[in-house]
Amino acid sequence: MVYNAAETRYDKMVYRRVGQSGLKLSALSLGLWHNFGDVDRLANQRDLLHYAFDHGITCFDIANNYGPSAGSAETNFGKIFHDDFQPYRDEMVITSKAGYYMWPGPYGEWGSRKNIIASCDQSLQRTGLDYFDIFYSHRPDPETPFEETALALDQIVKSGKALYIGISNYDPEQTAAITAIFNELKTPFIIHQMAYNMFNRKPEAGLFDVLADEKKGAIVFSPLAQGLLTDRYLHGIPEDSRANRKDSPFLSVADVDQRLAQIKQLHAIAESRGQTLAEMSLSWDLRENVVASVIIGASRVSQIEDNLKAIDHLDFTDTELAQIDTITK
Ligand SMILES: NC(=O)c1ccc[n+]([C@@H]2O[C@H](COP(=O)([O-])OP(=O)(O)OC[C@H]3O[C@@H](n4cnc5c(N)ncnc54)[C@H](OP(=O)(O)O)[C@@H]3O)[C@@H](O)[C@H]2O)c1
Repeated sequence: MVYNAAETRYDKMVYRRVGQSGLKLSALSLGLWHNFGDVDRLANQRDLLHYAFDHGITCFDIANNYGPSAGSAETNFGKIFHDDFQPYRDEMVITSKAGYYMWPGPYGEWGSRKNIIASCDQSLQRTGLDYFDIFYSHRPDPETPFEETALALDQIVKSGKALYIGISNYDPEQTAAITAIFNELKTPFIIHQMAYNMFNRKPEAGLFDVLADEKKGAIVFSPLAQGLLTDRYLHGIPEDSRANRKDSPFLSVADVDQRLAQIKQLHAIAESRGQTLAEMSLSWDLRENVVASVIIGASRVSQIEDNLKAIDHLDFTDTELAQIDTITK
């Protein structure tokens, strides 16, 4: 069946500017870290991508190593893109990243020119795309000079393989240091991707300030703390949940147990706002001006449907914010 995107796709979504760049992103982006591997059903992946795009999500976040197996999320996205999304390429912001382990030997990870350029070429090949809209350094490399990483990323733009550059997981000092190099090179570096949610306040300790000073944007990953900040675990550990999946080592049943009392209290605040906890958690991230978009993950369409409602209620009272701080800080 031919996919025709919904004509109503731009009716509701909010688009937010990335720093002082010309680029705007949908307030919600869809991430392909989980649920898009070769262990996951392709038909479900297609449904998730269709639903997201049909509701105004324009930004799709991928990386070389997403799967499992590593690389399979790019391959799967490429298949679906090829079948369904080619007519919509100019309505989409598609990203990838290099930096985490991808292939054996000394060149398969980190931030050398050798790794970054080869990795970008591999990602283009797997997805079948001509270019990425944003290409990221996925993590800072403590052994490679930032000049080398920045010049490699700059070359990726100059050779037409990406339009914009981003960085991810750099601390405030590292961000300031590499920004100075990008500024000198006039590289279109516009965005930093970091974890931020009610349980993880790290970017509030300097990173958001650096980005605001440098007029760059933020895009948040794991805004739902991988599902903790939803109603997923309110009544136990569902069999098909991320905390229970053996191929997902970054969220455990112990993490759920440790947070459950806080989750229940936050759930009550969300209810009093007329939101689900997932909706409130995304609204809470989006209250930060520097945050252009939050990258959600989803294992099923109903989660995207729920999460999209976050933009209906973005404002918080001082009392609500203080209550959230008391519970989570
Ligand atoms: N730059 C980096 O280093 C980095 C690191 C991590 C992630 N990322 C990016 O950020 C994206 C999002 O990360 P994430 O998947 O951890 O995000 P997340 O949105 O915090 O968690 C997504 C998970 O939460 C659950 N969920 C989502 N919406 C729900 C709802 N409405 N109700 C109940 N449960 C809900 C689902 O879990 P179940 O599977 O249990 O249903 C879903 O898979 C990734 O795909 C990736 O693109 C980047």
